[in-house]
Amino acid sequence: MPEPLLQVENLVTAFQTDSGLMTAVDGVSWSVTAGKTLGIVGESGCGKSVTAFSINRLLPQPHGRILSGRILFEGRDLVTMPDEELRKLRGSEIGMIFQEPMTALNPVHKIGRQLTEALLLHQPDLSPATAQQRIIEMLQRVRIPSPENRIHEYPHQLSGGMRQRVMIAMALINKPKLLIADEPTTALDVTVQAQILELISDLQKEMGMAVVLITHDLGVIAEVCDEVAVMYAGRIVEKAGVFDLFANPRHAYTQGLLESIPRLDSTPKTLLKAIPGNVPGIADFKPGCRFAERSGREHTSEHLTTRPPVTEIAPGHFVEHCPICVA
Ligand SMILES: Nc1ncnc2c1ncn2[C@@H]1O[C@H](COP(=O)(O)OP(=O)(O)O)[C@@H](O)[C@H]1O
Ligand SMILES: [Mg+2]
Repeated sequence: MPEPLLQVENLVTAFQTDSGLMTAVDGVSWSVTAGKTLGIVGESGCGKSVTAFSINRLLPQPHGRILSGRILFEGRDLVTMPDEELRKLRGSEIGMIFQEPMTALNPVHKIGRQLTEALLLHQPDLSPATAQQRIIEMLQRVRIPSPENRIHEYPHQLSGGMRQRVMIAMALINKPKLLIADEPTTALDVTVQAQILELISDLQKEMGMAVVLITHDLGVIAEVCDEVAVMYAGRIVEKAGVFDLFANPRHAYTQGLLESIPRLDSTPKTLLKAIPGNVPGIADFKPGCRFAERSGREHTSEHLTTRPPVTEIAPGHFVEHCPICVA
C-alpha cells in the first residue's frame, strides 16, 4: 500500500455557541493516496464542510476550533503547523473548490488578475509573459472558450458554470498534490455537472492529484470515487471501496441513502424512499448511536449512550458498529 498523502486521524472540531462548546465533527478518520479520489457523502448538516475547512484551517473565527486529532499532509501535521507554513501550502500544494464560486472569486477584479495573483503568490519569479501563458493554458484546460478574452472579464460577466470552471482553474493553477472539492457541482445543472466532474477526473489523471470530493449525491460518488466515507451527524458511519459500499452497504444510514437514489432499472415514477426525519443539529448529538431515531429500529438506552466501536467487517470495509443499525 502506498503511503497516504493526507491522513485525518480522530479529528474533533467544535464551535463555541451561546449554549457552550458544541462538537460538529466528532472523531473522524480517513486518508487519501496520490492519484485516488475519496468521496465524503452524507446529508446536509453532517459535518462535511466543517471537515474540509478544518483541513485548511479556514474555520469561521473566532468560534470554530479543532479540539483534537491530527491532519497529516505528507507526514506533517496541519493542525499544529505554523500559520506561515500552512499559507504556503494552501493554493500551492493543496487546492480547494467550493460550492459557491463567488466565495473564492473577488467580484471587483478581472479573472486574469485573480489567476495571476494566485500563480505569482507561489511562483513569484515568473515573468509576466510566462504567467499570462500559463493562465491561458489552464483556462483552456478547464474548457473555457476564448480565454484570451475572458481574462479581461469580471466574475459576474460569466455564467455559473463558467465561474465554477474559473474557480477550478484557480485551485489547479499551481498543480496541487491534493484537491479538496466541497460540493463542486451542486449548484449546476446536470450537463454542466457531468462536464465538471469529467474535467476534475481528467486533470487528476494528468497530474496524479489526490482528490477529496464532498457531496450529498451518491450518484456523483459512484461516478468518480475510489473510496467512500459516509458521514452522519459528525461521524463516519461507514467507509469502504466504492464497489463494496454500493454492493454491500452495512449501516442502516448508508442503506437509506442508497434507497433514496434513482435507479435506471426502477419503475418510472415510483416514489423514492427518503429517510424519514432530519439530521440532528450539533446541540442534539447523542453520545451513542446517532442514527437510532431515524432508523425505525428499536434501540436500548445503552445503544444511545455508548459510542459504537468502529470495526472492519471485511478487508478495507469499516462500519460504526451499532448492533441495531448494522444487522
Ligand atoms: N459557524 C458555525 N457555528 C455553529 N455551528 C456551525 C457553524 N458552521 C457549521 N455549523 C454546524 O455544524 C454542522 C455541520 O455543518 P456542515 O459541515 O456545514 O455540514 P455539511 O457540509 O455536511 O452540510 C451543522 O449542524 C451546522 O449547523
Ligand atoms: Mg457543506
